[in-house]
Amino acid sequence: MNKIICSDYNEVCAAAADIFAQQLSLKPSSVFGLATGSTPVGLYEELKRRCSARELDFSKAHAFNLDEYYPIEKNHPQSYKAFMDLHLFDEVKFESTQIPNGEAADPHIECARYDAAIEAAGGIDLQLLGIGINGHIGFNEPNTVYPVGSHLTELTESTLIANSRFFGEGEKQPETALTMGLGPIFNAKHILLLITGAAKAQVAKKLFDGKLYTDVPACFLLLHPNVTVILDKAASG
Ligand code: GLP
Repeated sequence: MNKIICSDYNEVCAAAADIFAQQLSLKPSSVFGLATGSTPVGLYEELKRRCSARELDFSKAHAFNLDEYYPIEKNHPQSYKAFMDLHLFDEVKFESTQIPNGEAADPHIECARYDAAIEAAGGIDLQLLGIGINGHIGFNEPNTVYPVGSHLTELTESTLIANSRFFGEGEKQPETALTMGLGPIFNAKHILLLITGAAKAQVAKKLFDGKLYTDVPACFLLLHPNVTVILDKAASG
């Protein structure tokens, strides 16, 4: 696990954008695994800036997002589809983008379709991850048993509370989601995990104390041969 500590959030975003740029220069048709949440927003801003300055070009690249609430309408303002359009895809054009379909009639068929699409694209070259305060990646929540493939999952109370800030009063927050499983995430050739803010310091500590806590899903990343973790000072404690 390659660990980079940056002084602040902006530096984290610039360092992460550099890794995206390296990946694109190696392979313009790279397959990127993308994440939602507040953490990658600054990275997406930086990618948009570099694209409009013509320093980067994603037009041959492909994107697969980690997760989506279920059920949720695509045009719901809190859907991850709407989030990605707003923060990246409306401005940065990819050859193709995919997000698990929160409107699918059968979530299990949709998850199998999603895994097959990732495989057909040749797997993910660079997988971006944020982390939940409980250690979740994507929506792989702490558990004793982890489905390998993409699946429908129940969100834990901690995640519902953490993400409730995005939902307005009276707006129903979905309690289930579709998430890429640990299998497709771990098949990525390079994984880039961003951890920022003091609220993540406790979970970051668990990642670096030389033990694999099975109730902290991000700890399984310790077993992957090519992981880069970028933290700001606040998260690194
Ligand atoms: C959501 C997403 C995760 C993300 C997490 C952390 O639950 N499913 O992919 O990493 O939130 O979000 P934030 O970056 O806002 O702390």
